[in-house]
Amino acid sequence: MEQLLNQITALKEEITAFNGGDAETFRIKYLGTKGLVKTIMGEMKNVAPENKKEAGQLLNEFKLFTEAKYSELNEASSKSEIGNPKSEIDLTLPGDNLPLGSRHPISLVKNRIISIFQRLGFAVAEGPEIEDDFHNFSALNLPENHPARDMQDTFYISQNPDWLLRTHTSSVQVREMQKGKLPIRIICPGRVYRNETISARAHCFFHQVEGLYIADNVSFADLKQTLYFFVQEMFGADVKVRFRPSYFPFTEPSAEMDISCLICGGTGCNVCKHTGWVEILGCGMVHPNVLDNCGIDSNKYTGFAFGMGIERITMLKYQIKDLRLFSENDLRFLKQFTSAV
Ligand code: PHE
Repeated sequence: MEQLLNQITALKEEITAFNGGDAETFRIKYLGTKGLVKTIMGEMKNVAPENKKEAGQLLNEFKLFTEAKYSELNEASSKSEIGNPKSEIDLTLPGDNLPLGSRHPISLVKNRIISIFQRLGFAVAEGPEIEDDFHNFSALNLPENHPARDMQDTFYISQNPDWLLRTHTSSVQVREMQKGKLPIRIICPGRVYRNETISARAHCFFHQVEGLYIADNVSFADLKQTLYFFVQEMFGADVKVRFRPSYFPFTEPSAEMDISCLICGGTGCNVCKHTGWVEILGCGMVHPNVLDNCGIDSNKYTGFAFGMGIERITMLKYQIKDLRLFSENDLRFLKQFTSAV
């Protein structure tokens, strides 16, 4: 009996001092099936019958003592970071929710435009933003000193007078025509630059999608039908379309296309300047000089081209009044498009 008492006292001291590991190590050592508590319980059989009651109580109390220490260790380890028993970080708690980002409205509309034209068989073509004079101007029937160059206030690169920031993605069309693989049916989305004073309606850069279709017998009727389809898919079946004669050096004949005002439905308001119509793009039949400049036989092939500003389309679609909102990175503005398609 005395021996048992001594054993228990020694073990209790050992347990109180235990800090050499985690709760699981403790459980295996003391409370497991081969643990010390079980072993010492086995000593009962050696206790004289008159002491059995007292020994039973002592052993029971020892078991409770060991279990209490175990739950203490368990609690401490649930507060600690895995691998670092002293840490206060609880990795079992759910994390902080990070707000989901969303696509920029310009990207949303650009992707929408691309997918509409892709359904008509147009492929996406891209090119450099820093261009040379030939691809941005000369090839497009805009020789040096041509007054129409003033229509697009250009940023030139001082290092080399031949280099500039492209003013339209028509330069990508030139690159594609030069490859000489016909027919060509492409759209060219991308950023373009013009030296304009920044206001609610103009910026020094914006985004375009231009389109080009060259094959045998492409006609103005094909151009109109393609653009009708685009407008219906983009703005809905009720929107009306009209073409006005216009001038671009690279197309002949040229036109500007208007759609009926989405705000007032065509009755007249501030947005359409009380005309009922808003302009959304320029277009026309590719000028034979352009085809020849790019190595395509203008006696054999014809084509149409068009170009639109993505900002303009986005402003009309979402009724945004100020172009500067697109580049200010204001989350209050951008968050409004989280669920837009
Ligand atoms: N490149 C013209 C512009 O940026 C748009 C356009 C493209 C017009 C094709 C007609 C045909 O203003």
